[in-house]
Amino acid sequence: MLDRIDHVGVAVSDLDAGIALYEGSFGMPLAHRETVEAQGVEAALLDVGEGHVELLQPLGPETVVGKFIERRGEGLHHVAYAVDDIDATLGRLKDAGVELIDEEARVGIQGSRVAFIHPKATGSVLTEIVEPGHDG
Ligand code: CO
Repeated sequence: MLDRIDHVGVAVSDLDAGIALYEGSFGMPLAHRETVEAQGVEAALLDVGEGHVELLQPLGPETVVGKFIERRGEGLHHVAYAVDDIDATLGRLKDAGVELIDEEARVGIQGSRVAFIHPKATGSVLTEIVEPGHDG
């Protein structure tokens, strides 16, 4: 039900510097840039093969990603797996007793729907499932 890796999320304190690295030095095309108020971030998606790198700059120190950087510094934040039907996947995970941060999907970048699984349930790997948007 988790079909493929959709993206890895990387917390950065300077989005432009992050884009300069991944686009400028690594040659990954910048596909999308968006402020996602619901997640407290300005985010950039860069293409790598079928997947993406998602750079996340917090909108403020009290946001989830802001607190992450405060506590642990910049770096790898989460891994996201693509699913066809996020509601069905969440139902199956709940039935399997997997602890979720988001019982219901919420709005993600680029019209996607996303939900996070609790790191307690995943050996401390913050794990996101994403039903990609159909607008790009
Ligand atoms: Co993500």
